Amino acid sequence: NTRKPIIAGNWKMHKTVFEATDFVKELLTFDVTKDVELVVCPTFTSLESVSALLKDSSVNLGAQNVHFESQGAFTGEISPGMLKTIGVDYCIIGHSERRQYFQETDELVNKKVKSVLETGMYPIMCVGETLTERENGDTEKVCKTQTVEGLKGLTAEEIQKVVIAYEPVWAIGTGKSATKEDANETIGYIRSVVEQLAGAEVASVIRIQYGGSVKPENIAEYMSMEHIDGALVGGASLTVKSFLDLTKF
Ligand code: G3H
Repeated sequence: NTRKPIIAGNWKMHKTVFEATDFVKELLTFDVTKDVELVVCPTFTSLESVSALLKDSSVNLGAQNVHFESQGAFTGEISPGMLKTIGVDYCIIGHSERRQYFQETDELVNKKVKSVLETGMYPIMCVGETLTERENGDTEKVCKTQTVEGLKGLTAEEIQKVVIAYEPVWAIGTGKSATKEDANETIGYIRSVVEQLAGAEVASVIRIQYGGSVKPENIAEYMSMEHIDGALVGGASLTVKSFLDLTKF
């Protein structure tokens, strides 16, 4: 396929602005491969400083969350326009930690996805089943609902711009990663759901990542699979060496 692999480092609530800028300065001393798109997703407090450092590089910048309104009385929230203005390219939306700890629903995810696209950024929309859902045989049902509801009301052209991250919740930060076959099967299924929504052409170009305990030791396995177009990585994205090693597959 012609889909460009995308490796995104989700730093979650790690790194002060000093640690974040040190990381990026060190990262930029290496020749970063152009065959893989690299994205770093620091916390809000580091976005602007990191953006300035990444300006002339091929590494892209992502935020970990966003509000769907453009402005207003929403204490503590950040709008898509505010992110776009400082050079943010991607927004992670509906990460399972946001769904679990901050009660984010598919409806909210859908509003955020729309708003991010309207602002001219790209959503990284996360979907994935919990352990109980997997054990109940509901993996496909859950992924389908989250995909359909998250992409509701979007045109095929808009859907094509979304990156979907399939992250089985039981594999996140646990060291228990999905097998490459299981991940590929579910991602292939999600691709078929996209096909139902937006047609075969969009389904063949939309990028779908795997996330959940990805590390340099297993990245090649995932990347060898037909439907897996990259990874959304937490823990193993936190050091420059490990992050760079994720591009070697
Ligand atoms: O966004 C990243 C995922 O939640 C995966 O985290 O690589 O630490 O398992 P992890």
